Amino acid sequence: MEYTNAVLDHFRNPRNVGELEGANAIGKVGSPSCGDKMEMYLKIEDGIIKDAKFMTFGCAAAISSSSVATELLKGLTIEEALQLTNQRVVEELGGLPEAKIHCSVMVEEAVKAALEDYEERKKQGKA
Ligand code: FES
Repeated sequence: MEYTNAVLDHFRNPRNVGELEGANAIGKVGSPSCGDKMEMYLKIEDGIIKDAKFMTFGCAAAISSSSVATELLKGLTIEEALQLTNQRVVEELGGLPEAKIHCSVMVEEAVKAALEDYEERKKQGKA
């Protein structure tokens, strides 16, 4: 399977790239299978994701998956964001080659890591 137009579009023009100023949920993960890395930045207010940005040091599938995820995440509640699966991201991209599915899994992990970071900050009164 080739990359879909949606993958190519998000790879060439990734949305929401960079560090997010004022982020209170940050998830940093890496893929053991390829060594690529991803950082997810979220700004959460009143239980809602107000803003999302990412930095991905990885392949086209990882970049396009992160880009689509930031678009999907904005406006979601924390509970909804916890249910964002890599399948949902792949669906939004119109599919990914089998060998590239793990790249979308890294996005799901980055989002979950960011939400865990948020819970931790909240406990410490820093969110
Ligand atoms: Fe490493 Fe895609 S090959 S994230």
